[in-house]
Amino acid sequence: MKRLLVVTLSLLALTSVAQASPELAKKKNCLACHAVDNKVVGPSYKDIAKKYGATDAGKLAAKVRQGGAGNWGVVPMPANPQVNEAEAKELVAWILTLK
Ligand code: HEC
Repeated sequence: MKRLLVVTLSLLALTSVAQASPELAKKKNCLACHAVDNKVVGPSYKDIAKKYGATDAGKLAAKVRQGGAGNWGVVPMPANPQVNEAEAKELVAWILTLK
């Protein structure tokens, strides 16, 4: 499954620059805890997309950088200081398209 995901992401990265965000998620280590379709340590990106709308993007981008808990359970997301503000916004915008 993990290899399939890597292959899929690589193919997506090759086919279009519009697919840069999955590649960014991989590079920034988001996929260590998240998958698009299923819960890993954190909620699946599809579940996040279902729960939130575009108006939540700013709040979510801040949480990606600062970390936090309580919206999905007691397990916290650690802060992700390797992600700058623009990258956090790009990642959240991509996640919210995954409904
Ligand atoms: C160490 C594991 C881990 C890593 C790495 C991680 N996350 Fe998370 N993430 C979580 C957990 C756990 C939650 C659920 C937090 C909660 O219950 O509020 C979460 C929640 C989220 C949410 C929803 C926040 C909310 O308030 O509902 C988004 C969006 C998100 N992560 C994006 C990312 C992105 C983008 C990255 C990469 C920069 C990332 N995560 C890296 C574990 C992780």
